[in-house]
Amino acid sequence: MPDELDPAHRNLVAADLFAGAGGLSEGLRAAGFDLVVSVDHDPDACATYRQNFPETEVVEGDLTQPAVHERLAAAARTRGTLDLLAGGPPCQAFSQMRNHDRLIDDPRNRLYREFVCLLDELRPRAMLLENVPGMNQLQGGVVRRQIEEDLSLRGDYIITSGVLDAGDFGTPQARERLVFIGLRADLGEPELPRGTGVVAALRLARRESAGRLYEVEGQAALLRTLQDPQDARAVTAHQALSDLLVPGPAYTGEPQTAFQKQVRRGSRAPQGHLPSRIREDTARRLDAIPPGGNIYDLPDDLLRRYLGDAKWGPAGNGKLLSRRHFYAYRRLHPDWLAWTANTKADFAYHYAAPRGLSMREAARIQGFPDRFQIITAPRGTPGQLSGGARHSIYRQVGNAVPPPLAIALGRAIAVQLRAAPGLPASMPLAASAAA
Ligand SMILES: C[S@@+](CC[C@H](N)C(=O)[O-])C[C@H]1O[C@@H](n2cnc3c(N)ncnc32)[C@H](O)[C@@H]1O
Repeated sequence: MPDELDPAHRNLVAADLFAGAGGLSEGLRAAGFDLVVSVDHDPDACATYRQNFPETEVVEGDLTQPAVHERLAAAARTRGTLDLLAGGPPCQAFSQMRNHDRLIDDPRNRLYREFVCLLDELRPRAMLLENVPGMNQLQGGVVRRQIEEDLSLRGDYIITSGVLDAGDFGTPQARERLVFIGLRADLGEPELPRGTGVVAALRLARRESAGRLYEVEGQAALLRTLQDPQDARAVTAHQALSDLLVPGPAYTGEPQTAFQKQVRRGSRAPQGHLPSRIREDTARRLDAIPPGGNIYDLPDDLLRRYLGDAKWGPAGNGKLLSRRHFYAYRRLHPDWLAWTANTKADFAYHYAAPRGLSMREAARIQGFPDRFQIITAPRGTPGQLSGGARHSIYRQVGNAVPPPLAIALGRAIAVQLRAAPGLPASMPLAASAAA
């Protein structure tokens, strides 16, 4: 009989810290992990997580509170030694660090410290930490090296890190994340998954040949992958969304691409497929912006604050639009990956219709399957963030790690854990001095 602790012969077990709606968890589950526990302090995100992960214990609360920490740690141990501790702790202070500061000492980075403490306490077989790519180059890489050092717990873990783009793993969006993977030192060297490289190829094509994809030397095969609707390794905005052109509660046609077939598996209807209403002024502006364009494509007369008699929002100087940066009025391009999603409903507008994206379309751009429901807790639940239900669902979607990237990370870790036979949970590790 196989050793019940041997990861080669049983389901792998993971815990997800700062789990949000569960984008990272969704990918880990698809890669073969059971999510034994998750934690988040946003009641709406927890409602979504419970809906989609009924088997998981969801700890709702601030992880820096001792009682919440204890509940999480106890739940993480219910199946013996944890295989994977995963999460993306929000870091407030990293961008203001000075040369000799240590990330872990800054009280504003207490959530990061919490992750490191739990790593030390739970001693999982593997760990996965993801964050915004800005950390990568900070102070010439010092911050990244500090994180590697903290996570290694003085040599007990081997850590590897790198910037990965979700678009290189079948997400219809260019979205970079800085990723740290660690394996307990007795289990081998961790490896990051390798993506297609399509995001860099597309960037090159747009820069060097004004978007004529096939004319960039050496990239043609890769870009053909992107153009093939039946190849889900690289997915354009159109390949992701073309079956959802008509908003409403039901699908109006069959899936048209490999990606659409994948995301519609197990879903009878597209939940949340109603875009926000837009003003007439916005529709007129969108009409004047080509797919792939933004506010910089507008002629002067459409940059006026009010185009008709209707007055809306704070007046500003009353003459010109106040939002005039690169991110304003961005329209998707059907043949490219989508712009990087943020937590707002207007992070991008549709390429074929003068409208914003429904929550379901935003979720597709993040690579969520359609069966994944994004919901909110009942109105008035204590701890709910301001802004209301609509803001909340776009925030939950925009905050997520794209599941296709999470699948690739989960698979890379699972392969290594299954190749390295488990050790009895009681076997002592080299004592850590990371207290
Ligand atoms: C970037 S989001 C995580 C997204 C998630 N990994 C996913 O893939 O969907 C960060 C999350 O941290 C949560 N958070 C922030 N501070 C927290 C705290 N002190 N305790 C628990 N959760 C916290 C937020 O509510 C938010 O959902």
